[in-house]
Amino acid sequence: MLDFDRYDRIRPIRREGDTLELLDQRRLPGEVDYVVCETADDVAGAIADLVVRGAPAIGIAAAWGVVLAARDLEDAADGQAASARLDPVFRRLHAARPTAVNLAWALARMRRVLEAAGEDWRYVLEREAAAIAAEDLVANRRMGELGAALIAPGSGVLTHCNTGSLATSGFGTALGVIRAGVASGHIERVFAGETRPWLQGARLTVWELQQDGIPATLIADSAGAHLMKAGGVQWVVIGADRICANGDTANKIGSYQLAIAARHLGVKFMVVAPSSTVDMGTPDGAGIEIELRDSNELLGYGGARLVAEGVEAWNPVFDVTPAELIDVIVTELGVVENPTPAKMAAMFGHL
Ligand code: MRU
Repeated sequence: MLDFDRYDRIRPIRREGDTLELLDQRRLPGEVDYVVCETADDVAGAIADLVVRGAPAIGIAAAWGVVLAARDLEDAADGQAASARLDPVFRRLHAARPTAVNLAWALARMRRVLEAAGEDWRYVLEREAAAIAAEDLVANRRMGELGAALIAPGSGVLTHCNTGSLATSGFGTALGVIRAGVASGHIERVFAGETRPWLQGARLTVWELQQDGIPATLIADSAGAHLMKAGGVQWVVIGADRICANGDTANKIGSYQLAIAARHLGVKFMVVAPSSTVDMGTPDGAGIEIELRDSNELLGYGGARLVAEGVEAWNPVFDVTPAELIDVIVTELGVVENPTPAKMAAMFGHL
């Protein structure tokens, strides 16, 4: 049994008194600093600005955002009345980022319990937000065990973006598999792509692993295929922002090209995500909205422009890996190998 507590040091989201504190991921690893949110608007802004990021983490933050708004709402007789008044808040939080379904999922879950609640609706919301956060941690630990068991002892893995404690309630999804795999000896070498342009890999993932004493080697995103060809890794292990009913998966931009290279070079490709990331209402990847962010994220860094004035840039921050390039999807409910609509329906049809 893995000593999970050894790995649970970083917490991106803290409920402190009447406020929500978010570890400011724009400043890591240089500064470890929390932003204090007092209102749902503060939370929506923090999600849009990537103070908090990663699919499960933005869902959890949004759930707490509803709790903050509930505290400020004048008395409503019951949950139905409160729901009507909180509608603009739900909409603002929902609009903060479009691609990760966990945001919509968490808000829908909060709305459901709110509308069923009586006069104790504030308490019900608080309890549900805490449950969403707690269940995410349990799911991550389970996925860690399931995913690591699929990896042969002594393997090397490549991951992309940040899918660790910083992106979740703790432990992480793909990074949870990596933590469990290193602890069990299944994984001997960890490589992380820098994840241009926002550098989630370079700034967050290798820092997070360093906190746990897990050595990781950073590579340029463009070095992935070369690393696979050289035999450095046997698996690519990534997270997800939305997994469709046929297994098509949206994740950080660059995931798709890693999947193509992996298939070409005989490297296995694993997607790790909780069932809150599975969107059975979207048949395939064509239905996923891909977030386009400000081109300045690509044209400069830290406020300094790197590229000649007048040059334009296109900055989609996610892409879709088609199901046929995915060897296995790992969730807390179980593992789907070579995903098809039928296999997905069998595992997630009830969601
Ligand atoms: O833009 P980000 O940093 O929110 O993108 C995050 C990712 O793409 C992650 O891989 C995904 O959300 C899974 S996090 C467990």
